[in-house]
Amino acid sequence: MYTIIDGKKISQEIKDELREKVAAMKEQGMERTLAVIQVGAAPASSVYVRNKKKACEYVGIRSLSYELPEETTEEELLGIIGELNGREDVNGILVQLPLPSHINEERVLLAIAPKKDVDGFHPVSVGNLSIGRPGYVSCTPAGVIQLLKRSGISIEGKECVVLGRSNIVGKPMAMLLLRENGTVTVCHSRTKNLKEITKRADILVAAVGRPKMVDETYVKDGAVVIDVGIHRNADNKLCGDVDFDSVAPKTSYITPVPGGVGPMTIAMLMANCVEGIPG
Ligand code: GUN
Repeated sequence: MYTIIDGKKISQEIKDELREKVAAMKEQGMERTLAVIQVGAAPASSVYVRNKKKACEYVGIRSLSYELPEETTEEELLGIIGELNGREDVNGILVQLPLPSHINEERVLLAIAPKKDVDGFHPVSVGNLSIGRPGYVSCTPAGVIQLLKRSGISIEGKECVVLGRSNIVGKPMAMLLLRENGTVTVCHSRTKNLKEITKRADILVAAVGRPKMVDETYVKDGAVVIDVGIHRNADNKLCGDVDFDSVAPKTSYITPVPGGVGPMTIAMLMANCVEGIPG
């Protein structure tokens, strides 16, 4: 028998905890403010941004919305970020990705002050994570750690395999599992004997970006499987990187798509905004 990890429920618990914290902070005269910047109107980005603003409202964080036209220049965007960096009343700055192709994403992420980098994408935040210093942590991998901890799954000493090496998920995921004393292997598209490695995993995190690539032949009996992927199949249904139906019966715990890792990203963004840089 396997247990489905309910990301919707766990993310709701986290948002409720944060809502209480924010209410207590307000009583002491403290307010949190997140600036959300979107350039252009890509439908997927608009959905994410709307959900982030809704979560802010629920938790009690003030959100400032910058909905900029597609033609916005890099200089204009950098100007807005510079102004927000200097504003004492703004704690967090989030630039929704991807940006239009005429804007250099790296320069934009570098422009966000690390103390306001609630997405955890700035090289200073990434570097702090990798050497164990306090800093903001990328929200999706931080959410995976919370799913494991709040499901009573210990990471210490476990064989953890991360499938995928993106800057936003794979690499920080590996660093976080290492910080929790897991034994971590990172696999990717060029890895030889991939299944031999993934079959060693006590905890397998799939963040490879290929629909249903991980089937039961990749998974050890009793493993914990976390699916970070999100795709739409030909019937417009959501699916992950894991072929849930074939994999689930082999696992002890598994996350579904939707309703697994997805809702955790915004919950952890809210946590970053409320709690600031973790000590
Ligand atoms: N685009 C897709 N996911 C994310 C995210 O977590 N943060 C930002 N800023 N943009 C994204």
